[in-house]
Order: sequence, then structure tokens, then C-alpha cells
Amino acid sequence: MRAVRVPATSANLGPGFDALGLAVSLYCDVTMTLSEDDHFYYHGTDSSGQANRDLPDTPDNLIHEGFRKVYESLGKDAPSVTFEVRNAIPLARGLGSSSAALVAGAALADKHLGEPLGRTGVFQLAARLEGHPDNVAPAVFGGFTLSAGYRANEADPMMYLCEYLPLPEDWQLVFAVPDFELLTSESRSVLPEAYSRSDVVFTSSRTALWSLAVAQNKPELLRVASQDVLHEPYREKLIPNLASCRQQLWDAGALAVYLSGAGPTLAAICLGEVMTTQCEVIMRQFVGEAGVVLNLRASEGYQYI
Ligand code: HSE
Repeated sequence: MRAVRVPATSANLGPGFDALGLAVSLYCDVTMTLSEDDHFYYHGTDSSGQANRDLPDTPDNLIHEGFRKVYESLGKDAPSVTFEVRNAIPLARGLGSSSAALVAGAALADKHLGEPLGRTGVFQLAARLEGHPDNVAPAVFGGFTLSAGYRANEADPMMYLCEYLPLPEDWQLVFAVPDFELLTSESRSVLPEAYSRSDVVFTSSRTALWSLAVAQNKPELLRVASQDVLHEPYREKLIPNLASCRQQLWDAGALAVYLSGAGPTLAAICLGEVMTTQCEVIMRQFVGEAGVVLNLRASEGYQYI
């Protein structure tokens, strides 16, 4: 029996579309045992305070996919396995539940094989499966991550690099998780194909600023660094009352406000109890009775438990 704990993740951080991410202290725990057939026992736990539905026992899930792809990448046949999943990461809310599942499966396969891929190989494989690396990178490496896809030559497969930094310990991560799912595919479908030069300059300057804010522990940079014009204005119409909640959070002094991943979760970064409590109150109104507000910290990447 082997087990792994994979953190939830918050991608984009505003302007860092498909590039920036954070690992946060909410977890998916997966235990693996060898068995005669593939099984998948999934329990959404309520440690997030959010009803997190159970899923059927079928081998057609992302944990088995991550597991099998590791074997496939090494030219080996995967054994049949049973996964027992206890997941506190809300599904399809912009907190990286799919990436956590892929990473869990891949990390367990890697461990079972004696770690031929290691953390970097697990990252490469899961980023390729996911199609963009911004949730996978923090699930693997933890903290604040910046990742980029590249091809050494035009015909070569996509490779990903990732640099990571610890997030300053006193930055509190507060999330407003609405009570509805938003699939990444739907949330990407509303984005334009092309952008103006001024929008690109606006965003690239802020993405770079984000990294400096973390590296130099300068939270005062986040207010500008978390502004985005590439995806949030387009996604806003999919999430009722987002614009007004965002404005109230800014007015309450939040250091950063951004849409977590593809949404619908809204994130704020806060310092100190007063600011955090004010933001939580605003977020509770936004998500209503059925949603949940989470007060989290940065996390390390996946750990075998
Ligand atoms: N960068 C991705 C997006 C994150 O915003 O669509 C969701 O997987």
C-alpha cells in the first residue's frame, strides 16, 4: 500500500494566464493497493466545508490515467490497482482538482516503480496530459510557481520548465468558492483568439511583477501585479456578482484579488487578521449559504504519506 497527498492549486493569479500558480493547504489524499482489477473508491470529504459529491467506481478517471501514462511512457504494462481517494478539493471550481488527480496517479506510479521519473518527470508528464502547466507545477513543486512550455526544435514534443519560490509565510490566501461548477473548457471558450499589443504589455509587465513581489517579499506590489485583461474580463460574465465582490475586496484593502484558475472561485491575498476577516465577510455574501469561504496558506508540493 502506498499513499500520496497532493495540494489544491490556484492558477493564473490574475495576469499569469497558463503560467503562474500557487499550492494551497487543501488536499487530495490517495491510497493505492495492487488488486485484480482497477477500482476507484472516491469520497469527497467535507473538510472544505463544501459538499463534495462522491464519484462512481470506474477506471475512467484522472488518477488511473496519470498512473497508466507513467507506465506507458516507460514502455511498461501498468498493474491493476485500487485507488481509495479522500478529496477535500472542490471539483470544477478553479482549485486544481483535475491536476491534483493526474499528479496523484503519476506520483504513485513513479513511487511504485522506484522513482524513475522523479518530481521533474512527474511534472513533465502531468503537464503534457493537462495541456497547460500552471496547476500541475504547484501541485508538484509547491509554493509559488512560474512555468513555461517550450520546444527545443519545432518538431520536438512540448517540454515544460518550472521555477518555484516559497510564498511569504504571512500572506493569507482567502477563497470564495461559489456553489456551482465551471468547466475549464467552457471558461476557455469565451476567450478571444487574439489580443491588442497594449493588453499584452499590460499583462506581461504584471506577470513579471508578481514574481518580484514574491521573491522580494513586497506585498505592496500585488495590487498592480494581480490585475489582468487577458481572461478575467471575459470570464466575468460567467460568474454572477463577481465584479461587485471584487470591487468590495479592493475597497477593503485586499493586497491581491483574482479569479482562481478558470473560476468560478475568487481569491484574495491578505495580511493580518483585520483585513482577512473583512474579506471573508464580503466573500460570504458573494457565495451565499451554499458556497464556502476558505482561509488557507501556501503548501508544499505532493508528499508520500
Ligand atoms: N490557466 C487555466 C485557465 C487554468 O485559466 O484556463 C485552468 O486549468
